[in-house]
Amino acid sequence: MFAPQIYINRREQLRDQVGKGLILLLGNGESPMNYADNTYFFRQDSTFLYFFGINIPNLAAIIDVDEQKEYLFGDDYTIDEIVWRGSQQKIAEYAHSAGIEQTLPFYRLADVIKMALDRCRKIHYLPPYRVENKITISQLLNIPIEVVEINQSVELVKSVVKQREIKSDEEICQIEEAVNISVDMHIAGIRAIRPGIKECVVAAKIHEVALSAGGNIGFPIIATKNGQTLHNHYHGNTLNDGDVFLIDAGAENAMHYNGDLSSTIPVLGSFSVQQSEIYEATLKAHQAAINTLNPGISFKEVHFAACRSIINSMKDLGLMKGNTEDALHAGAHALFFPCGTGHMMGLDVHDMEDLGEQYVGYENEKKSTMFGLKSLRFAKLLQPGHVFTIEPGIYFIPELIDLWQAENKFNQFLNWEKINSYRNMGGYRNEENFVITCTGYKRLGKLKPKTVEEIVSYR
Ligand code: GLY
Ligand code: MN
Repeated sequence: MFAPQIYINRREQLRDQVGKGLILLLGNGESPMNYADNTYFFRQDSTFLYFFGINIPNLAAIIDVDEQKEYLFGDDYTIDEIVWRGSQQKIAEYAHSAGIEQTLPFYRLADVIKMALDRCRKIHYLPPYRVENKITISQLLNIPIEVVEINQSVELVKSVVKQREIKSDEEICQIEEAVNISVDMHIAGIRAIRPGIKECVVAAKIHEVALSAGGNIGFPIIATKNGQTLHNHYHGNTLNDGDVFLIDAGAENAMHYNGDLSSTIPVLGSFSVQQSEIYEATLKAHQAAINTLNPGISFKEVHFAACRSIINSMKDLGLMKGNTEDALHAGAHALFFPCGTGHMMGLDVHDMEDLGEQYVGYENEKKSTMFGLKSLRFAKLLQPGHVFTIEPGIYFIPELIDLWQAENKFNQFLNWEKINSYRNMGGYRNEENFVITCTGYKRLGKLKPKTVEEIVSYR
């Protein structure tokens, strides 16, 4: 945990932002995998971590804005729990480390909420993403489960986003640690890749580094020779000469901050001519996006810079044609790049995505519904303290190629004959992490191997 004063200051800032009422923040519980006592790896809610830092299940907190009081709700371990799980600090001790003096048993949460409801006080809560917390809110507030999400406090959502989106120096230090571990994960993966090895062996080497560093992975590892599937979590294939291998993996460090990197690696040590053309095009798009980074620029412009670069490279290779700006605005490049250039990153790998992409990634502009652009999770004006990924990629998805060709979609921008000669080329992506500074940007963590020469030097 950080020092108590950090959490005290964060909550004070939240109280000032929200202005009135009670703020109810729920931690996460354990989540059963196949029976109650066999649970998934426990992950605390990130907003709860941000304001309280306490990493144990079954907690809730109330910040009473009007009375300037704070309560932590939770139960000390019973003797049975101590027998099976070991001893645990008292809830009051945890509260103390977060700068909270008042604790109550969990069952008292219902009384405190009821009293507030009886007095017609506003209760602010965030949209719950776990069913258990949806049920808890429904019961506490005596509202049908269907309206729990609708009644979320937009004021609270906006206030939390405003605070969490600007990373403090101590947070950036944690994120850099997570990125450094993530670089080591990628190097371990690169070292393991060779013809004849299975994807799951590479994935295991990557995972080992995250665990050894005292944390874990921040999201399921992508380690695949079928990188054209954007989130491919299958690890059952054997690698062959000539395959292109894609790793998208990141660490969550012991303080729960994340790194998120992607690498594209030739299994045999060099790319074929066609593979190399596409790989170089992704590196170019990556650099084009980086070149635009500055406070005051919108991330949508950063995305468009990557898209323009991909369109121009595809035109040079003969896969696309026509006017670049027209192709960009029509969305024709989404055949090869059907997602966004990046997303915010912090306590979540896609930071705060549970609070709604509209509030997290966009200002007043509505998020697009157009194929490709609808997957751009971040479009805000960049501010010092914004931490995000840059990860443009080029993907050859045979089903999408066939569908668009059958529909005669964007015939004015797409050269189907040439595209079909690349249809089995797979997926290519490079990803690094950045923070915006007052004067520009900083790449976070140590350098990840990116050029083919850098990559093969780890073999
Ligand atoms: N690293 C997975 C993603 O950014 O979606
Ligand atoms: Mn990412």
